[in-house]
Amino acid sequence: MSDSSSAIQSVLVENRVFPPPEALVKAARISGMAGYEALCAEANKDFEGFWARLARENINWTKPFTQTLDESNAPFYKWFADGELNASANCLDKHMGTPVENKTAIIFEADGGEVTKVTYKELLARVSQFANALKARGVQKGDRVLIYMPMTIEGIVAMQACARIGATHSVVFGGFSAKAVQERIQDAGAVAVITANYQLRGGKELPLKAIVDEAIASGGCECVKTVFVYERTASAWARVAGRDISFAEAVAGQSTECAPVPVEAEHPLFVLYTSGSTGKPKGVQHATGGYMLWAKLTMDWTFDIQPSDVFWCTADIGWVTGHTYITYGPLAAGATEVVFEGVPTYPNAGRFWQMIERHKVSIFYTAPTAIRSLIKAADSDEAVHPGKSDLSSLRILGSVGEPINPEAWMWYYKNVGQERCPIVDTWWQTENGGHLITPLPGATPLVPGSCTLPLPGIDAAIVDETGNDVPNGSGGILVIKRPWPSMIRTIWGDPERFKKSYFPEELKGYYLAGDGAVRDAKTGYFRITGRIDDVLNVSGHRMGTMEIESALVAKSDLVAEAAVVGRPDDLTGEAICAFVVLKRPRPTGDEAKQIAKELRDWVAKEIGPIAKPKDIRFGDNLPKTRSGKIMRRLLRSLAKGESITQDTSTLENPAILDQLAQNN
Ligand code: WT7
Repeated sequence: MSDSSSAIQSVLVENRVFPPPEALVKAARISGMAGYEALCAEANKDFEGFWARLARENINWTKPFTQTLDESNAPFYKWFADGELNASANCLDKHMGTPVENKTAIIFEADGGEVTKVTYKELLARVSQFANALKARGVQKGDRVLIYMPMTIEGIVAMQACARIGATHSVVFGGFSAKAVQERIQDAGAVAVITANYQLRGGKELPLKAIVDEAIASGGCECVKTVFVYERTASAWARVAGRDISFAEAVAGQSTECAPVPVEAEHPLFVLYTSGSTGKPKGVQHATGGYMLWAKLTMDWTFDIQPSDVFWCTADIGWVTGHTYITYGPLAAGATEVVFEGVPTYPNAGRFWQMIERHKVSIFYTAPTAIRSLIKAADSDEAVHPGKSDLSSLRILGSVGEPINPEAWMWYYKNVGQERCPIVDTWWQTENGGHLITPLPGATPLVPGSCTLPLPGIDAAIVDETGNDVPNGSGGILVIKRPWPSMIRTIWGDPERFKKSYFPEELKGYYLAGDGAVRDAKTGYFRITGRIDDVLNVSGHRMGTMEIESALVAKSDLVAEAAVVGRPDDLTGEAICAFVVLKRPRPTGDEAKQIAKELRDWVAKEIGPIAKPKDIRFGDNLPKTRSGKIMRRLLRSLAKGESITQDTSTLENPAILDQLAQNN
């Protein structure tokens, strides 16, 4: 079990309850706890019938399915397997000929503040045209396409265009390094890359295309035949003749009509790489049918999306939250959504609140780490306080990515939601496709810091190491006992790792989330206590400790050994702390500072800036057992600055603890 931070401690004693607003209970799709319980009862009574009904009501199938769930090759579950559909048609074409066709689909606000709007009809034309451009370069159903794009309308167009022709996209967050891009191109066998010359963030122009060039030049990327370059800025970019083509060139002369290609429900819509506890990142593979059902359904259930809503999810399309709640969910729901290119602190830390006012946002979905940093900014500068903006358009707030501490929850509730707006604290993972445990805005009484109860049909439970339920009130391992439509189908190219990582034998075939959790003794509400494996959550970004360790030891001229652990951080939730043994005497003072900087820059280059360790401590060696195992438990205590109270009798070299306790 990972360390319990002070935030988690205060969650455990939380007893404030906030019932949903009366008006919302009356108007919401799922009305009151009775509404929620009725759906749960329906799922319990006829599990497959329940999902079949929802899949028929929420998805346009070009070929209806006859079988709902195929468990014959568990845990490789199949949903709606003989049905056919197209994801892009379920976001765009389905609205044509309805009042939605001329509705604004996307309100795009650029880093510098310019606003561009596109209607559903216009978006369909742009997606179709780019889909034709992909086809013209030979991209076909089943091919993989890597997308390395800034937050722009074109990023969404790129994803939708892939879906339209049945190509599987793999989006890589624009903050990842050339090496990360190279590894993902290779693992996925991408035939094309869609990127931009530059991205704009916080007034700075940052390269993307040059990083793609570096990735491909590093070798093993011969699979890439085309690089599409969206010219986000006027700056020049280097062209590789025959391979590279600008967006403008690619779409020139292409028709704005392109028939969506129907695919089987299990056809991989996307592969998204995420960190695991061991080795290299895993390509989480999602299926078209079940995933699309979940994107649409959770927009209805969790956000109670209505035709008049303006929805804004502040995530990046490089993460799963951006996939489900920017690219697919809001469009499948026919909503108007805000897409934001920039960062929350530019030109000032009031940007989010000013944008809510400017675009009359009614549903706002962000991450605790953003809230915490904006609290800090508002505390020191009244001018960027949410109270300075007109937030009366808001009706529902959301939180995602990490546990939200009750202090931040209360601030969000009071200052942003003005005590009128329910906060849906949505627990889920890249592997889940969409929300699994979350309050419903018109039903669930809220408790700060709790993601409350599973969605109907989601059989979440807390078990011990042998898969047996633990009583409410005691902590344990969070599992999902039955499959659900938007679950991960496999790890791209590695079915064995899929089975081992998510369905370990000792857990009775349950899905292992990798999180620890506890249920409230009285209400049964879930509280997530953090990861139980070697995965860190830094500002809502998932980082494998082993991945960072491998990056550090890859600097083989300098580093002999490295161990990485997390420690609680007020702002980022967790912070990365690295203990390093060098191939030269342990440095101190300025030398230590300089080497620490060198190592940070190295990790940024190997993985990306988000993986940079906040603390680096140097030792003559690491605390190990006599059998040579690094005692991470002790390192976690040292990272937190705690004195060691654990049993150290199995430790080979106890003297090392004093050395590592000092910050250089
Ligand atoms: C991990 C998944 C969910 C999409 C974005 C992150 C943590 C996520 C919550 C929450 C407590 C949360 C978990 C989970 N997490 N949401 N509401 N409360 N913890 O997806 O990168 O796959 O990370 O994020 O630890 O396992 P991800």
